[in-house]
Amino acid sequence: MKPIVLSGIRPTGQLHLGNYLGALQKFVKMQQEGIYENFFFIADLHALTTNPDPKALHENVKNVLAEYIAAGLDPEKSTLFIQSDVHEIPELYLLLNMHVGIGELMRTAAFKDKARKQLGITSPATDDDEDMAREIIGGNSNKRVNAGLLTYPTLMAVDILIQKADFVPVGKDQEQHLELTRRFARRFNSFYNVDFFKEPQNFNFGGEPVKVPGLDGSGKMGKSEGNCLYLIDEDKPLRKKVMRAVTDAGPTEPNQPMAEPVKNLFAILKLVATPDKVQFFTDAYNRCEIRYGDLKKELAEDILAITAPIRERYKEIRNDEAYLRRVVEMGAEKARAHARKTVEDVRQIMGILPF
Ligand code: TRP
Repeated sequence: MKPIVLSGIRPTGQLHLGNYLGALQKFVKMQQEGIYENFFFIADLHALTTNPDPKALHENVKNVLAEYIAAGLDPEKSTLFIQSDVHEIPELYLLLNMHVGIGELMRTAAFKDKARKQLGITSPATDDDEDMAREIIGGNSNKRVNAGLLTYPTLMAVDILIQKADFVPVGKDQEQHLELTRRFARRFNSFYNVDFFKEPQNFNFGGEPVKVPGLDGSGKMGKSEGNCLYLIDEDKPLRKKVMRAVTDAGPTEPNQPMAEPVKNLFAILKLVATPDKVQFFTDAYNRCEIRYGDLKKELAEDILAITAPIRERYKEIRNDEAYLRRVVEMGAEKARAHARKTVEDVRQIMGILPF
């Protein structure tokens, strides 16, 4: 049996270049290598924790699924599924919650951030979070943090444990959730004195993790930062976004250190262009001869060489509703087979027995 790699994505909008270069491209490569059994799913139940508009949610699920396939994930080789199709997930979520502490959930960094947002608290998180706790249990009925948000880590642990995944490729922001997953697995095993759940490990693709910065001179590319180059951007708007990227007035001394926004441009160039081209512009910079306009033009074309074919495939796939339906049916069947077995065993272990 091949080791299982599993990854989920919340359907909160279109995928951007950071999603592709940071994760999706590696998933495709991993799929080609065939060493692992791959599960990729769309975490629509997790999306519910922030109460999205129902129509928008359904559209986003379809968009992300079509983008996954357009980018090269093959439903014949990997199991592509929608989280909510696997009814065993909510069942195990209820069962596992019996072993999860409210306190440990409240101390999760992602929860603290989102809860503060839902409560409208603007001051930064503190160690004791007294202000947050007071608001949460304070009984002001206008302000509420939904229980789904609190138990987000339980649901994520279930996604992973129900498939008995060995590896879960996650970035920094999800490491704490993966750590909780391991903790819940250990706790369950020791409470029932069984060797049942596997402790999943982060999956390292080898080499440095890919960081894709935004083009606005700030940090990483992200939806909430509003600095994204989307996989489905048409040629013209994408070129425009790249041409508008923040730079500086240009180097005035040879080998001058690069300012953050310029570093970011080069960081993306390295991910999409040939080493020759990167060298050419690096040399030009070091000799104070660089023309950022030329660099941006080349950068835009190299990005489009990657994204335009994905975009065109995406349009075809997204319009083929019958095909998408077949894909999710097939994926659900495979994902449910694993899940059903796990839940049957857990019921047994916990004493929910047939008469
Ligand atoms: N919480 C993850 C994120 O926001 C998405 C996710 C849900 C996930 N379930 C998962 C990722 C299981 C990996 C494994 O990015």
